[in-house]
Amino acid sequence: MHTVPAVDAAHLPQLLKAMPKAELHMHIEGSLEPELIFALAQRNGVKLPYAGVEDLRRAYAFTDLQSFLDIYYAGASVLLYEQDFYDMGRAYLTRAAQDNVVHAEIFFDPQTHTQRGVGMETVINGLYRACRDAEIEQGISSALILSFLRHLSEEDAFATLEAALPLRDRFIGVGLDSSEVGNPPEKFARVFARCRELGLHLVAHAGEEGPPAYIWGALDVLHSERIDHGVQAARDEALMQRLVRDGVPLTVCPLSNLKLCVVSDLAQHNLPQLLEAGLKVTVNSDDPAYFGGYVNENYLQLFAATGMNSQQAWQLAVNSFDASFVTPQQRAHWMRQLEAVFARYAALA
Ligand code: ADE
Ligand code: ZN
Repeated sequence: MHTVPAVDAAHLPQLLKAMPKAELHMHIEGSLEPELIFALAQRNGVKLPYAGVEDLRRAYAFTDLQSFLDIYYAGASVLLYEQDFYDMGRAYLTRAAQDNVVHAEIFFDPQTHTQRGVGMETVINGLYRACRDAEIEQGISSALILSFLRHLSEEDAFATLEAALPLRDRFIGVGLDSSEVGNPPEKFARVFARCRELGLHLVAHAGEEGPPAYIWGALDVLHSERIDHGVQAARDEALMQRLVRDGVPLTVCPLSNLKLCVVSDLAQHNLPQLLEAGLKVTVNSDDPAYFGGYVNENYLQLFAATGMNSQQAWQLAVNSFDASFVTPQQRAHWMRQLEAVFARYAALA
């Protein structure tokens, strides 16, 4: 491992905020802040079952993944027009840029919208335009990943892929999200095989609430290049060895795991152990509007709770670039920026 100059613990929070980083696991619908939900509801004449922003926020007391998903899908019901998707995308990218995210790979859930009669092109064009304008105006790089809802059928996923293919140049890959337990990766073997033939990048949520077997399935059956969450891997030593051997990245989301009761306390989070075991772990926000923080808040709270140090911060930032689907040139450019930030903070001691 590359050794970096140590940064004094007193400067660690500033370093975590300042270091350039990639965010590889966030759902754009999970970036809808209550204020934006109500603004869009009013603009579009959509009635919500909540009296207002505070009433909605009070409902954000989740007991597990499903209790969150029910509210998350209700929140997304205000999105109707291309401009709505654009505004949501720009709001997230503006916020991410403030956290020194230099590159974001963004999930979107088209079925949540097409089921309500919204056109596939409305969703993709709005988000794509947001990504492009944010790059031009804020210098933040981004790409879109179409995520299939695993509580729906594989047939529905195939129809979704078919509808998206005319816009193939506007997304870089596919993912698998929504209710995990009871919807194993094998259910989507054929549609992922087709996406693989098409040359799309492949990722999948696995081992958030589900067992290690779902991570094996994501790797061996879906050929997933990254595992989203994957924290349950620690229960299976052979799986840990496989993930290390193949350098499979895990996109871990500490505040999500806390808010959805995957862990009872951030101090108990196994991210430091996964990193220590040699897994390519990254830190991400998942659904930042719902889980109490954007990506820097995830770093800050995790480091405060677990006592992680600047060497580990360095490794997480490096991993975020290594695990991203960018060119080696792009990666090298951000690595130089990362080295410069660490050198600046090390000199403060
Ligand atoms: N969709 C949005 N957030 C999710 C999560 N954490 N797990 C599964 N599906 C999701
Ligand atoms: Zn997720």
